[in-house]
Amino acid sequence: MSEKKNQFKVGLGVTGGIAAYKAIEVLRLLQKSDCDVRVAMTTHAAEFIQPLTFRALSGHYVLVDDYDSGNPDPIAHINFSQEIDLFLVVPATANTLAKFANGIADDFITSTYLASTAPVLVAPAMNTTMWNQPATARNIARLKSDGVRFVEPIAGELACKTVGTGKLEDVENIAAQAMAMLKGTGHSARDLENERVVITVGGTREAIDPVRFISNRSSGRMGFALARAAFERGAEVTVIAGSTSVDPPTGPRIINALSAAEMHEAVFEEISDATVFIGAAAVADYRPKSAAASKIKKKDRDEMSLELERTEDILAKVSSTRRNGVIVAGFAAETTNVVEYATEKLKKKNLDLVIANDITKDGAGFNSETNIASIIEKGGAAENLPKMSKLELAHVILDRIAKIRDAGK
Ligand code: CTP
Repeated sequence: MSEKKNQFKVGLGVTGGIAAYKAIEVLRLLQKSDCDVRVAMTTHAAEFIQPLTFRALSGHYVLVDDYDSGNPDPIAHINFSQEIDLFLVVPATANTLAKFANGIADDFITSTYLASTAPVLVAPAMNTTMWNQPATARNIARLKSDGVRFVEPIAGELACKTVGTGKLEDVENIAAQAMAMLKGTGHSARDLENERVVITVGGTREAIDPVRFISNRSSGRMGFALARAAFERGAEVTVIAGSTSVDPPTGPRIINALSAAEMHEAVFEEISDATVFIGAAAVADYRPKSAAASKIKKKDRDEMSLELERTEDILAKVSSTRRNGVIVAGFAAETTNVVEYATEKLKKKNLDLVIANDITKDGAGFNSETNIASIIEKGGAAENLPKMSKLELAHVILDRIAKIRDAGK
């Protein structure tokens, strides 16, 4: 077998929670992205998953106890910690976070944390009550100020059958954030700390009557990814969310506004002190001219037509009424002549940036986890980006926004 050197070395710490099995998938995804992954586990994690599983998949000895006589390296926590480009902990228990925050080094993973100078990314998973404890919040705040990055847990049904925040983030998102840190695509920076970002997300619903509406296929994934990424980079983030089919990120403020008119109103309530506006919502361009007050009955009707009227273009209005220095970005979901139509939108709405995608492509579009986009800046040529996760794309978009901001200073 030919010896190929991987681009990145990742230390994957697995601590003792039911989500430990998901670390296997994270390992696989990182390997696919050209990472050499070495695994360390706590003894409790080894109760959930056999170290042998990780050994077989990673091709390396799995460190559980560095005093173990089978350990090939007597000072493993030093060697391991100094060889890695990223220390990633999936899942991170409340206990491990508490130890990291307080400098306790009583096992291999916590010793590695202290001995390492590599960036650290942790993906906590725990019961909602443990997540909400002031002690956990204190430890997390301390770790954040120490420079540790978090892939925040999401809301969902937990192993204990309760529903709440504490579920491990999707493994694709964890791997994407790890890759963004390894590639230095902004994620490790808190470069948006002084920004107030307003983002519209999801589709809108335009009422026909109290029961029916016109809507579209937007899931909200791209907009939520942007909100999450901006929040992690330190921005104050307000999301104006229409209809969505995925969980919102924890951190950003979420305001629900289902119709184009409600979204328009909510945006203009929030926009006055924003420094960045991103129109990621698929806002309906038309709505029924007058929604029926009571349910429309089909009795005696073979045909029916709806009279539609234009909705207000939120993005165009934000752009035309903005203060100096406010950055405005929009999206263009197209099926033909993608770059040409997107460039027209950029000019017509006087945007700083437009993100265009061909929604007919495999791996792009509304319900996909990934996106294939082109970014066009005012006065610039289109840059065609490769297929990447929506979170990675979000970071690339925010990198551009930060660059535009820095150029304007
Ligand atoms: N947008 C908006 N308000 C609207 C319509 C669109 O803010 N009422 C924003 C979207 O959030 C997106 C961009 O404008 O950022 C999309 O531009 P648009 O020209 O509306 O795209 P399409 O609806 O696809 O238009 P067309 O049918 O002309 O291609």
